[in-house]
This record gives sequence, C-alpha cells and structure tokens, in this order.
Amino acid sequence: MIEISKLNKYYKIGNDKMHALKDITLNIQNGEMLAIMGKSGAGKSTLMNMIGLLDKYDSGSLKIDGIEVSMLGDSKLAKLRNEKIGFVMQDFSLLEQKTVLMNVMLPLYFNNKYNFSSMKKIAMEMLRRVGIAEQANKKANQLSGGQKQRVAIARAIVNDPSFILADEPTGALDTKTSAEIMELFKNLNENGKTIIIITHDMGIAQACQRKIEISDGKII
Ligand SMILES: Nc1ncnc2c1ncn2[C@@H]1O[C@H](COP(=O)(O)OP(=O)(O)OP(=O)(O)O)[C@@H](O)[C@H]1O
Ligand SMILES: [Mg+2]
Repeated sequence: MIEISKLNKYYKIGNDKMHALKDITLNIQNGEMLAIMGKSGAGKSTLMNMIGLLDKYDSGSLKIDGIEVSMLGDSKLAKLRNEKIGFVMQDFSLLEQKTVLMNVMLPLYFNNKYNFSSMKKIAMEMLRRVGIAEQANKKANQLSGGQKQRVAIARAIVNDPSFILADEPTGALDTKTSAEIMELFKNLNENGKTIIIITHDMGIAQACQRKIEISDGKII
C-alpha cells in the first residue's frame, strides 16, 4: 500500500523555487489500477518520481507498505525500489543494442539471487507472459514500438514487484497497439499487481478502476 500525506515538492530554478507538488494526499491500495491524469506540466511525472523513489520530497509523508521512505538512506532506497517497483516509460528505455532476453534479465543481476541459467529461465517466462517469447534473441532495436513496450513490461515485472509505475506507456503507440498494451496491464492487475498509469488519454484512463487528476501540483 502507498500512503501519501501532505506531500510537497519544490524545484530550484536559479534563485526561484517552483512549487511542483502542493499538499498531495493520496492512498493507493494493493491491487488497484489507478490512472493519473492532468495537463502537461501539472506535476504527474514529479509525483511518479516521488512514488518511484527516484527523487526526494521537501515535506509531508510517503509510506510504502508502512515504511516512511524519507527515513531511508540511498542504498536502502535502491533496494526497496528494485524489490517493490517496476517502471514502464513512454520511450521504453531499453538497451537498444542488447537482446530482448538480456534487457529482461538485467534487473535480476542487481538482486544477486540467481545464477545465469535461472535468470534466463525467469526472463523467458516473463517474455512468454507478455506474448513476445519468439523475439527473445532479437536486438531491442529490431522491434516495433508495441513489441518494445511488451519487453519493457516484462522487464518491469521480472523482480515480481508489488506495483508498476507507467508514465505515458502508450504515448508513443497507435490506438490498436495501445489497447493491446492496456489489456496486458489489466491482465497483470487481475493477477494481483497494483498499477499506476500516467496518461493524457481519456480512453486509457477509462480502462482503469480509478482516475485522479492533477492540476498545477494539486489533486482536483
Ligand atoms: N528537474 C526539474 N527542474 C525544475 N523544474 C522542473 C523539473 N522537473 C519538472 N519541473 C517543473 O515542474 C512542473 C511539473 O513537471 P512534470 O514533469 O511533473 O509535469 P507532467 O505533468 O509530467 O507534464 P507532461 O505531461 O508534459 O509530462 C513543470 O512546471 C516543470 O517545468
Ligand atoms: Mg510527465
């Protein structure tokens, strides 16, 4: 569960301060599928960076499964991020010169639990789950956008995270491919994953259980 209370984030721009998140209070239960909407510049990615433990906030509280994250040092934060959170980005963020299989195996290297053949087996299972196992040995740069996003989703779930954060995951895809990717997210959600999707697209948001909107750093 994610519990956010009166969260504030400022960015320093020269001598000025920009108030990017204003007293955000939001609870996200395990198993939810939530859409975060809002205009460009509203603060959606900033909020995602907070929830994803990628950046620090200035005041308020953010708890993940009961742990106040501002109390954690960098190595504990990195561990929590690796264990609990899977990221999916608009631009896929794959290693383009590496194979599909290697891209999905990568997060497993960081948790130091598996030997090479176990990592390969787990990664192949994830690729099957997202319907792209036949492409395992292709380089990422040989895939279409929709195929790349499937690989990114396989990579996001390989460590069995509690939740998936997706920032405009369908922003670079056509309507039909977007719908297929949303089906995949729905499927993962039905299998217990908490999913948080940032989107501009009302159709995508409608496919989620709950929608919230951010405007000028506030939830409206
Ligand atoms: N690193 C930064 N330094 C300074 N200002 C920033 C930084 N990142 C974001 N901002 C500012 O904070 C505000 C919120 O930005 P954010 O990226 O969260 O918007 P967004 O809702 O994700 O927009 P988009 O839909 O365009 O991705 C914007 O005014 C932006 O210019
Ligand atoms: Mg953004």
